Amino acid sequence: MQGLSKTVAGARFERLSRLAERLTGQHLDSRKTFLAEVRLKPAMAMLGSETVDDLLERLEQGVSSNLVSYVADALTNGETWFFRERQALQTVIDHALKTEAGHTPRIWCTGAASGQESYSLAILSEEMRGEAGGIEILATDIGHRATRRAEAGIYTHFEIQKGLSAARMLAHFERVGDRNWQACERLRDRLAVRQHNLLDGPVRKEAFDIVLARHVLSDMSDRCRVTALQSLVRGLRPGGWLLTGAGEAIPGGHGLIRDGGLGPGFYRKQA
Ligand SMILES: C[S@@+](CC[C@H](N)C(=O)[O-])C[C@H]1O[C@@H](n2cnc3c(N)ncnc32)[C@H](O)[C@@H]1O
Repeated sequence: MQGLSKTVAGARFERLSRLAERLTGQHLDSRKTFLAEVRLKPAMAMLGSETVDDLLERLEQGVSSNLVSYVADALTNGETWFFRERQALQTVIDHALKTEAGHTPRIWCTGAASGQESYSLAILSEEMRGEAGGIEILATDIGHRATRRAEAGIYTHFEIQKGLSAARMLAHFERVGDRNWQACERLRDRLAVRQHNLLDGPVRKEAFDIVLARHVLSDMSDRCRVTALQSLVRGLRPGGWLLTGAGEAIPGGHGLIRDGGLGPGFYRKQA
């Protein structure tokens, strides 16, 4: 009996895994199958499916792009925190502030999850340039819940403490209710947030001076990593920079040069 349920669980993992790769490019972590099934509830409610197997059957027949974003919330890893790999974020802002006069630097933060990385950039930009700011930051993610959370900028007490100093928390966030903190309106106004799948091409062509893709590509299948990388490169303006996460390797070519100029993880698009 136990053997049979193991087979059922294995077969379901295979189906979830195929779906995750097709819709998001990501490998599904087998240890998180149960969590994925719980997180599929909003998609089940949308389609009126009573069981995960019924939902899978429907999703295997075709998925609208709206539904992809709900399913993606369940199948991807959204782990993030404030000022993750902080030196690289500081370099992004230092470099953006050096761009020629009369040009507003544009940063595209892909796989932005619940927004901590983009708010960290917004905080650095404000601290260095004052409230005038002057850097455009676009945060995108495939997930519906992730993008709604990034837009709202609301974090639990546990999340707000992860990577953020008390001084920055008090300067840039306001208490909401007993347990949460919200990015102040001024900081939220510095970000634009959009839902976007990296497998669908760039959000805008040749528009960005710097594109961040940190901890997004490493869990993708080889084929999808190349597709996503092409989207990132097409989003960069010639001579612009791509930043990957610490220790992440990307396939060679695609018009990118590993140029040590800005430090580890940075690649420059050929001008
Ligand atoms: C591990 S988080 C990384 C968050 C942040 N970049 C950081 O480094 O802290 C990865 C995020 O990538 C998003 N993601 C995964 N596949 C994607 C795709 N095909 N298109 C856009 N975003 C994707 C996930 O939804 C998740 O929120």
